[in-house]
Amino acid sequence: MPEKYWLSPLSAKNVNPNTPIGTKEVTGFAKGRVLDYGCGFGRLAPEFDDYVGVDLTEHRLAECRRQHPDKTFMLTTDLQSDAVFDTVILDNVLIHVPDDEIEDLLGDVTGFGERVIIAEHLGRHFRGRPLQWHRDLSEYEDIFECLGFTLMVTATVDNPNYRSAGKMSVMLWMPA
Ligand SMILES: C[S@@+](CC[C@H](N)C(=O)[O-])C[C@H]1O[C@@H](n2cnc3c(N)ncnc32)[C@H](O)[C@@H]1O
Repeated sequence: MPEKYWLSPLSAKNVNPNTPIGTKEVTGFAKGRVLDYGCGFGRLAPEFDDYVGVDLTEHRLAECRRQHPDKTFMLTTDLQSDAVFDTVILDNVLIHVPDDEIEDLLGDVTGFGERVIIAEHLGRHFRGRPLQWHRDLSEYEDIFECLGFTLMVTATVDNPNYRSAGKMSVMLWMPA
């Protein structure tokens, strides 16, 4: 059960507090009021003036608030369903969302903002480890098409630290 894992303090080892990889591309695609969905330790918080970070775990949020007292952090469950943002960022989050939950989650996040940025390593060939659901681009295209969104632009970022030297994709999805 992935949510149970992320609620455990042990999951902190899978949340890098300060990698710079893809940050420039993510910030370049973002505009206005930002929702950082699955914010981890709030790594992206300093990049934005108008920023809200949400995650599943109070223990990580407490650390976010300690490090970034000028920013807002809350549990995903405390996010109002009618909250409005310009940009929603999912940075290395969706690879941890199982196939039977991904459509509902993307349905929710596209309701929060019209610029949806996904940063992760694309490709099912990355699957095989517990609690990881890497996807092919075509899977995201199918889901977003149903939601009326289309891929506007992708930046590809070298990530020599990832498995056998992967390329991370930073994608901007917007209403078609
Ligand atoms: C690998 S970390 C990435 C953290 C952050 N986005 C970053 O780039 O530094 C994955 C984060 O996604 C969160 N997460 C996993 N599943 C989630 C879900 N269904 N909803 C919200 N957050 C989720 C985890 O709690 C964890 O903090």
